Amino acid sequence: MKNFYVQFIVFLAALGGLLFGYDTGAISGALIYIKQEMSLSVLEQELVVALLPLGAVIGALFAGYCTDRFGRRKIILVASLIFILAALFMSLAPTVLFLLIGRSLAGLAIGVSSMTVPLYLSELSPPKKRGFCVSTNQLMVTVGILAGFLVDYIFGQHQDWRIMLGLSAVPAIILFVSMLFLPETPRWLAGNGYDERANGVLRKLGMSAEKARAVVTQIHQAAKFERGSYRECFAKGVRKPLIAGILLAIFQQIVGINTVIYYAPSILTFVGEKDTAALLATLGVGGVNTLVTILALFLLDRVGRRVLLITGTVLLVVALFMMGVGHFYAAEGNWVGMLYTISLFLYIAGFAIGLGCVAWLFIAEVYPLKIRGKAMSLATIANWGSNFIVSLTFLSLLDHLGPGFTFSLYGVIGVIAVIYFSAFIPETKGKTLEEISSYWSH
Ligand code: BGC
Repeated sequence: MKNFYVQFIVFLAALGGLLFGYDTGAISGALIYIKQEMSLSVLEQELVVALLPLGAVIGALFAGYCTDRFGRRKIILVASLIFILAALFMSLAPTVLFLLIGRSLAGLAIGVSSMTVPLYLSELSPPKKRGFCVSTNQLMVTVGILAGFLVDYIFGQHQDWRIMLGLSAVPAIILFVSMLFLPETPRWLAGNGYDERANGVLRKLGMSAEKARAVVTQIHQAAKFERGSYRECFAKGVRKPLIAGILLAIFQQIVGINTVIYYAPSILTFVGEKDTAALLATLGVGGVNTLVTILALFLLDRVGRRVLLITGTVLLVVALFMMGVGHFYAAEGNWVGMLYTISLFLYIAGFAIGLGCVAWLFIAEVYPLKIRGKAMSLATIANWGSNFIVSLTFLSLLDHLGPGFTFSLYGVIGVIAVIYFSAFIPETKGKTLEEISSYWSH
């Protein structure tokens, strides 16, 4: 393999992940100043936050059909244009309405890119490096979140929310220009009858002429030239991976990841930590998320997805119960704050090494070519839908159950997830996408 060329493609396409992370991360700080400047009502504030995951659900819905019909590359190109438009709407917004349109557009673009980029990367990467290549997207998501936190911190001093939100135009423009030059995936090309072009891309990726021909034949056998419908996603033989992917995508959210990422500072102030400690913890959570994701990238193709998924989720469950228990003793002084901070870091490390990478990787590699775009879009919709529901219910859960029971509840869900993964998620390390498809059909 021409490693440099593959790495170059992976890095540029994964800018989609950076935008996903940045747009979700930067809003928490920006909202404080938007609220003041535009005198937002509570409903308007909720809309500013919630329109993004909602837009993402709609984006993922269209992306499934469109990536199968028009190709992966063109759709990432369109997503990057929408990202640019969204940044303009948000940073120049004269009224709340423009801001809300901007957030919805950003959501739409994130919904499209959060499924299409991993799909694109999984179809272009060599089997032995697929874990690394696809999860580079997740690494960029974490870098984007961290960048969002940092930009908020820097521009927060000038209360400049327009720059905070508008800066996302920069990676979006780079993504757009890069996608003009990057290739379509050989899977999509051969699956749609463009054999010569598929061959050309495979050769460019460093394959010998003979190997490239063999791969194209393999793709034909797996795809059988038909394009599957949504109904076919539920056909026997496909149903199992479909359900496994959807559940994995849902579990990724319902263990409460985004409540921890976005409410880390307020969670810490519940147990009596000072504001500065809380802010540092937020940056720390972002930093640990990125560092552990780097570690995961190197382990995914060595120890495999399953081990990381299960170990990571066990760690995350332990952390959730530690947080839950900590709250029942919250009045008992300093050690609770300490326990809490340690649990937060353990939680994020467990997520980053397991569910963070593996959920997106699994849904990008597990479906047969015929239905890959559509099935992946269903799993992505499930992911964003549950993200939306968790964000919407978290504060009411805190209100009614209190933090102790709320985190213990996420912990119980985590236990169910571990049991499910142990029983139903197979290892996909090192296999070609065509081998993985045939595993399920047999
Ligand atoms: C999840 C996001 C989450 C992020 C944190 C992603 O895999 O889909 O919801 O915010 O990881 O790193």
